[in-house]
Formats: sequence, structure tokens, C-alpha cells
Amino acid sequence: MTAYPKSVRIVEVGPRDGLQNEKSTVSVETRVKFIDMLSATGLKTIEAGAFVSPKWVPQMADTDKVYAAINKKSGVAYPVLVPNEKGMEAAVAAGVKEIAVFAAASESFSKRNINCSIEESLERFAPVMKTAQQHGIKVRGYVSCVLGCPYEGEISPAAAAKVAKDLRDMGCYEISLGDTIGTGTPLKTRAMLQAVKKDIPAAALAVHFHDTYGQALANILVALEEGVAVVDSAASGLGGCPYAKGASGNVATEDVLYMLDGMGIATGVDIAKVVAAGRFIAETLGRASASKAAQALAAKS
Ligand code: HMG
Ligand code: MG
Repeated sequence: MTAYPKSVRIVEVGPRDGLQNEKSTVSVETRVKFIDMLSATGLKTIEAGAFVSPKWVPQMADTDKVYAAINKKSGVAYPVLVPNEKGMEAAVAAGVKEIAVFAAASESFSKRNINCSIEESLERFAPVMKTAQQHGIKVRGYVSCVLGCPYEGEISPAAAAKVAKDLRDMGCYEISLGDTIGTGTPLKTRAMLQAVKKDIPAAALAVHFHDTYGQALANILVALEEGVAVVDSAASGLGGCPYAKGASGNVATEDVLYMLDGMGIATGVDIAKVVAAGRFIAETLGRASASKAAQALAAKS
């Protein structure tokens, strides 16, 4: 029989990965309310924003104000993205307890997303890691484009594994493997994970799927089979990436929860409360939820 993890931690990325891709900038008040609603669901990790250049990603401006205003529930982590030392200064000033640095498995994507090569990005992270250590701030590492790049196409498992190892060696406690454009399929996901696991134990890995081609849940199932027990997702299937044209939202938290609940895998998260948070943000944005489970549950009630 296939073994699955007994429990899974969901990393809710809607308030960051979701809202960073919206055409309009969502108000600080709405971002705060959305995060507070998510905090009440049982989620243990909720990405609260990004200290990136507001010229590059205006949607994440005022992350300091959002972070100051949210109701920080005990036992819940509220990480923010940090691309360089300037972002780290802002994170320290805001008093954050956890950050995420982000690199890519593809050179072209690295250049478009953070305006430097993969090697340069890792060099930029070194002082960020040092400051984080001095302040007792936990650091998560992202690798984007692990299963495909919008500019280069196919990405080899070895390229993803190399950057994941570099981030782990630098001191990231967890590496989130991002299928930024959602082109991955299950067997490719397995090959990529097996390459990464040669250097990093599954317990230190997370998966981050965008659902552009409807493959996310199938890929997550494979990741669970490979021993991964941390899954990134966004309420209402919000998301995308400003530097990955055509990439659709993250896999919906509601859909992941429905699958895990049905498999008897514990998450500690109340799906009905996530549906409510997802409905709030979708209505604010003037659109329907992209989550199939949320739509089905709403039709029943
Ligand atoms: P740059 O233009 O090369 O930076 O951008 P620079 O150092 O030359 O500075 C240019 C200007 O930006 C200066 O201001 C700096 O002060 C300012 P000016 O003098 O022109 O007024 N600046 C900053 N301002 C605020 N916060 C900062 C900061 N740094 C510089 N931290 C940079 C380089 C990295 C800053 C830029 O490219 C950037 O902000 N990129 C962020 C892109 C981004 O947020 N992408 C989305 C997140 S990644 C993602 O979604 C993938 C993920 O979900 C996983 C997956 O799906 O695969 C994580
Ligand atoms: Mg993403």
C-alpha cells in the first residue's frame, strides 16, 4: 500500500502570491481582514506580504502597514518575501519573525523576476541570511520554475535540485519547490522530487503548484507519496506571478483541504472557514472563486 503522511501543513500564500498578481492594488484594510479571516481557520502559516520594490510589484506596497495591523495569532507564522538587504531592513523594522527568500531554477526567469542571475541572487541572500540569524528570524527558501519556465521551457530536475541544495546549504529551514507556470505533470513531478531528495530530506521540502493546466492536485498527490508534507496553496485559487505571463492562480486551499480531508490526512484547518475567507476576497475582487470545492460547498449550503 502507498504510504501517505499522517498530517500536512498548509502554507497559505493567497495574501502574497494571490494578491501580488491582481491588476488593482487591494487596500491595506482588505488585506488585513483577509489575513485575519485566514488566521481563524486553523492555518499555521499565512504569507502576509512582500518587502519587494513597489515599482516592480505595486500590489505588495505597504506590507509594513499590513503586518503591523494583522491580528497575530499565537502559534501562527506570518512570513514575508524578502529579495535583498533593503527588503531585509524593512522586515527587521516591521518585526517579522519569518521571511522567505526566492531564487529560480531558470536563468531567464531569475533575470525577469529579480533582475539578476541565479548566482547573483544567492550572493544577495548571504547577508540577508546573516541578518536573519542575528535577529532569530526563520528563513524559508523558494525555487521557482522547477518544472518549467515561461522563457526557457523545460527545466531539468538537476537544475531544480542544485538551487534547492544551495538554499538549504545557506540555512533555509524549508525549501518550497515552485511550479510557477503550472506546466508540471505527475511523473515529471516525481522525477524532480527524487532528484531534490538526493540532497534534501522530504521533511524539509514543500511543494508550490500553480494550477494553470489543472495538474496541481495530481502533482500534490505524487508529492505526498514522495513524503512531502507541506503544501502551499491560496484560498479561492488566487494567484499567479507578475513575471510569468499566463500563469494562473495557486492551487486552491479549499481543493487541497477537500482532498486531504477525504484521505484522512490531518491539517487542523476548517474548510468551511477557508471557503468564507475565499468568498470574502473573491467578492472584493469582483469575481467567482476559482476553487471547485468552494463552488460545490457553496451550492450545497
Ligand atoms: P532592481 O531594480 O535591480 O533593484 O530590482 P535596485 O537595487 O537597482 O534598486 C532599484 C530601486 O528599487 C531603488 O529605488 C531601490 O531603493 C528600490 P529608486 O532609487 O529607484 O527609488 N528597492 C527596493 N524597494 C523596496 N524594497 C526592496 C527594494 N530593493 C530595491 N526590497 C529587486 C531588484 C529584487 C528589488 C526587484 O527586482 C524586485 O523587487 N523584484 C520582486 C519581484 C517579485 O516580487 N516577484 C514575485 C514574487 S516571486 C513569485 O511569485 C514566485 C513564488 O510564488 C514561487 C513560485 O510560484 O514559483 C515565490
Ligand atoms: Mg507562486
